[in-house]
Amino acid sequence: MEWWKDAVVYQVYPKSFKDSSGDGIGDINGITEKLPYIRELGADVVWLSPIYDSPQDDNGYDIRDYYKLLKEAGTMEDFDRMLSRAHGLGLRIIMDLVVNHTSDEHVWFQESKKSKDNPYRDYYIWKEGKRQNTREGLDTSKEQAWGDEPNNWGSCYSGSAWEWDSTTKEYYLHLFSRKQPDLNWENVLVREEIYKMMRWWLDKGIDGFRMDVISLISKLPGYPDGEAGESGYTSFEVTANGPCVHEYLKEMNRKVLSLYDVMTVGECSGVTLEEAWKYAGAEEGELNMIFQFELMELDCENGIKWDLKPLDFIRMKKIFEKWQTGMYGKAWNSLFWNNHDQPRVVSRWGNDSGEYRELSAKMLASILYGMQGTPFIYQGEELGMTNPGLSIEECRDIETLRMYQERLEAGCSRAEIMRSVHAKCRDNARTPMQWDDSPNAGFSTGDPWMPVNPDYKTINAGAQLQDEDSVFHYYKKLIRLRKTYDVFRDGRFTMEYKEDPDIIWYTRTGEKESLRVICNFHELTRAIKLPDNEEWGELLICNYPEIRKETELRPYEARMYLV
Ligand code: NOJ
Repeated sequence: MEWWKDAVVYQVYPKSFKDSSGDGIGDINGITEKLPYIRELGADVVWLSPIYDSPQDDNGYDIRDYYKLLKEAGTMEDFDRMLSRAHGLGLRIIMDLVVNHTSDEHVWFQESKKSKDNPYRDYYIWKEGKRQNTREGLDTSKEQAWGDEPNNWGSCYSGSAWEWDSTTKEYYLHLFSRKQPDLNWENVLVREEIYKMMRWWLDKGIDGFRMDVISLISKLPGYPDGEAGESGYTSFEVTANGPCVHEYLKEMNRKVLSLYDVMTVGECSGVTLEEAWKYAGAEEGELNMIFQFELMELDCENGIKWDLKPLDFIRMKKIFEKWQTGMYGKAWNSLFWNNHDQPRVVSRWGNDSGEYRELSAKMLASILYGMQGTPFIYQGEELGMTNPGLSIEECRDIETLRMYQERLEAGCSRAEIMRSVHAKCRDNARTPMQWDDSPNAGFSTGDPWMPVNPDYKTINAGAQLQDEDSVFHYYKKLIRLRKTYDVFRDGRFTMEYKEDPDIIWYTRTGEKESLRVICNFHELTRAIKLPDNEEWGELLICNYPEIRKETELRPYEARMYLV
């Protein structure tokens, strides 16, 4: 059954969602308490970012034990209660599956690094240094030296992707932090362990997985150098979509996923349309859908997220068109503006200054919710939560802190680095959820692990639930519309006004009806005109209280018509 095609997913970042114990860290009982809120919005599925046992080097994306929960998150009984409460409310739960790497504190790695003949040695990727044998030109007073690493691959968190281990005198690969060693998927024992663990969670009754950086699991044979970037290291994109990734996913599907009625979404950066058809193609037997990140690169230079550049709106429309038409009838899309790795979209591409915040948040939602695919809402997006403008001392994320250090050392000015941090850091999305206007936004009675955005007095769930015109209610209405008309799921996509610098206008053509979505992306009023002999149709939703003139769009105005 393809229930996931009609589903709307709500992503919870547990650490920042709701703290029930008063220790300042969100927990499972907090999530359980708020399930009715998620249901009220109209979502059908909850994606939980990792809540497993973890030393938290990367906020839980570094797992120490896949079968245990993080102490601060709660107990397995809490989890079972949450799951059964969710199911009782008609909500499904999908978990984050993080299997490109583990924590270095996972027992497999603890064993693996003991000796070269340890039974777990091959669970990870160990290599000799490039010049290990000759050590020619190396400073032999040190065990490791620049240029000795097995290749020039870079870690996503700055610096080399290889870490020297002085016990066994080899390097291990870590595409993320050095506390996140990459698993060796070529080893069948690793794959079987992972499938066993997946079955364990599915047997518990969870409803699927979001798969963390799943496009990275198969590495290039021979581990060749990539083209080096400015920092001397290659981007991790070289390592994506390796030669065996589809073989592994087909195996996983055969041995695990196909045995359950579940939903899967794979995180796949650096993916082309052709690759996406393989990952998510209806006939391929791999995943139901993927996240691709082409839009997320629109405001950075050369794919480097910290190097800012203004949004190219026309290019944005081209990307939408490419994925909406290119996937049609072949594979299923996911739709998202936000997640725990991205800045808040209303600050990024809307307008978060008072007057236009709500209008632009609703406009952005309208653009996405008329499209084909499964929408993902990130906690607080449905309130139009904004970037908090954190100081570097308030940032917690390893990626930001390491980049800050690296760029300072390279001579960049603090002001310039902070501009990037404010625009792009992942902590933008990780401040506590704003539940109400009580202290700490109702997130915790303790001291929150991350500062609360000071705008919580005006932007919070309590206030928006009371207000029929709020961003929350607008999302709710969009979700209801998606469930009412088949055209949202099935209609064929056509982009109109392709070269217009302000307006995004597309149609979806279904068997019974068509949908017309028209939005003004900017803060100026614009004239619009229907093609001759056409009619506007029935207005399904608009982010202004009334249409003033059919032939003009006010700042950030969004409309959807059923024709
Ligand atoms: C992608 C996740 O979304 C991100 O938060 C995490 O840091 C990396 N994968 C590493 O697991």
